[in-house]
Amino acid sequence: MIQASAPAKVILFGEHAVVYGKPAIAVPISSLRAVATVDPNVPPLGYIRVIAEDIGQALSITMADDVDNALSLAARKVIELTGSPLPDVTISLRSSIPIAGGLGSGAAVTTALVRALAAAINAHLENAAINQIVFEVEKLFHGTPSGIDNTVIVYEQPIYFVRGQIMQPFLPSAPVHLVIADTGITASTKVSVGDVRTLFERNPERTQVILDDIGDIVDKARHALENGSSQQLGSLMVQNHELLRQLTVSSPELDRLVEAAIGSGALGAKLSGGGRGGNMIALVTPETRSQVMAALRNAGATNAFATTVGS
Ligand code: PMV
Repeated sequence: MIQASAPAKVILFGEHAVVYGKPAIAVPISSLRAVATVDPNVPPLGYIRVIAEDIGQALSITMADDVDNALSLAARKVIELTGSPLPDVTISLRSSIPIAGGLGSGAAVTTALVRALAAAINAHLENAAINQIVFEVEKLFHGTPSGIDNTVIVYEQPIYFVRGQIMQPFLPSAPVHLVIADTGITASTKVSVGDVRTLFERNPERTQVILDDIGDIVDKARHALENGSSQQLGSLMVQNHELLRQLTVSSPELDRLVEAAIGSGALGAKLSGGGRGGNMIALVTPETRSQVMAALRNAGATNAFATTVGS
């Protein structure tokens, strides 16, 4: 049986400003994954069938039809790139990554599909080629992404990312203990990115100052991660959240969860990803982890889970 997978991700620092050329830091969440399984079609169907039960999609992929679907486009790009004949297989997709919560579920599902299909046709695709395919799919269906989501998911390691540049993997010097909590509100990253664009056009000077400040925070955060300075890291998260509020991408629910996390002993907390809903992250220690999770649930989080990065 052929199987391939890809992880979820969170953005630790720098979302939104990364669209404007500022750096950002993202880490993979390897415990949440999208998995693609390949089975031969018996009897043969003459096309690739993709079944994504979680999102209620069943697709028949040939090279002839117009492509109006991210998964079909990804599959077609693999076939075009490798020059392989269309394999007669069914690819089943499953994912434990919540959809539209800023955890990269779309990019992870696409990455798993690309890897599984490449394996099914015995093609070896380098991560750089996979990353390019997933980025092109993200571009067509999600507006003007910076590329950070696909990059951290394909390479599955902590990255310092600047749009249009080769990503820099780095290692935190000490484990980073996070709690990730969901507002339960699904929000469109395309809309929040568009609203920041409007803000920028209406008030370029003030918005540029906010973006510059976020960029400075990201550089300090990288040093704090490399030096194991978790107090400083927490304080930088709080500062980054405040700047994201000024960019109008927070929400009352996200602010409430951030306050609850800090009030219950987290070293810092902020929204993560596109904002307006979706997930927030809190920096904890093994000692404060359970009390912060309880406080987040009390403050309305529909889900909260703990993860450790860099251990
Ligand atoms: O909502 P997410 O996790 O896909 O976050 C996107 C991050 C943004 O910086 C808001 C947009 C981008 O393309 O980088």
